[in-house]
Amino acid sequence: MSSKVSLTRYLIEQQRIDGHIPSQLRLLLEVVARACKSISQAVNKGALGSAMGSAESENVQGEVQKKLDIIANEVLIEANEWGGHLAAMASEEMDSIYLVPNRYPQGEYLLMFDPLDGSSNIDVNVSIGTIFSVLKKPEGDHGVEESDFLQPGNKQVAAGYCVYGPQTTLVLTVGDGVAMFTLDREQGSFVLTEEHVTIPADTQEFAINMSNMRHWDEPVKRYIGECLEGKEGPRGKDFNMRWIASMVADVHRILTRGGVFLYPWDKREPEKAGKLRLMYEANPMSWLIEQAGGAATNGKQRILDIQPTKLHERVSVMLGSKNEVERVTAYHAGL
Ligand code: AHG
Ligand code: MN
Ligand code: MN
Repeated sequence: MSSKVSLTRYLIEQQRIDGHIPSQLRLLLEVVARACKSISQAVNKGALGSAMGSAESENVQGEVQKKLDIIANEVLIEANEWGGHLAAMASEEMDSIYLVPNRYPQGEYLLMFDPLDGSSNIDVNVSIGTIFSVLKKPEGDHGVEESDFLQPGNKQVAAGYCVYGPQTTLVLTVGDGVAMFTLDREQGSFVLTEEHVTIPADTQEFAINMSNMRHWDEPVKRYIGECLEGKEGPRGKDFNMRWIASMVADVHRILTRGGVFLYPWDKREPEKAGKLRLMYEANPMSWLIEQAGGAATNGKQRILDIQPTKLHERVSVMLGSKNEVERVTAYHAGL
């Protein structure tokens, strides 16, 4: 790239040239990026700061919270509540929706986030991230209610994540492909480092937590079983496996070099549709993957077409290289 393009310039050009994003949405994305910079600082400090370890509290889903889960949640709320671009927020770490306080102007957008994805990796210095999704508040004068958030992923107007790894990288879509921005720490700004990201349709790399194998459904057992058979099996090629246990880092690898990621429903908690959350994890990641030419289903249906029935809804997730996702989805249909 001849001259550096900052996130600010990229967003202004999206607004000005392509008419993709109204100014309120541009402001919102700038604010989210600023919050991610601040979370990145806290992550980088590690044991020198106060962000490591357990907070000894539980979130609405019964998961033990880490200090960084709570810090990241607060950073995102404080950064976003006063700018006038939002009507309300919802987070994996909060029981119910967070209304923008009355003392601030109300905007027309709804922001959802997983403030810190990959919590189990915080204390072991492995990549973690923040995932976010933006919807428009439905028309009407009524105050914001939880039901306003219950829109399918195909209604998202922006989605992205920031991965805190060896580099801090912000990955974004506003419906015009996927762009990646690397944090330049000297300048304090995100710089465009990849545009028009595309995922190869075929892959020889899968990501799944193999320790759950005995609990999977037959179609998933069949798909992974065939991958494991390698060259000698029906696929006629060897597969490699990766599992970072931070969806954000696994998805980042897939957007970078292809692959398929599965966190399917399993028999450990049969009443839950899956482990991952539809609104904070599956929807934003599925849109990014589709925008990069990949596919995302729950085994039966396109994730972006699922009508949510509750805020913290869970879902089975299969996403990544198109041909692999289509194959495992076809196995679910008995094909
Ligand atoms: P979170 O830290 O936000 O709760 O999400 C963790 C998720 C996801 O990032 C990852 O793919 C998965 O949980 C890992 O689960 P296992 O520990 O069951 O492999
Ligand atoms: Mn998560
Ligand atoms: Mn989380």
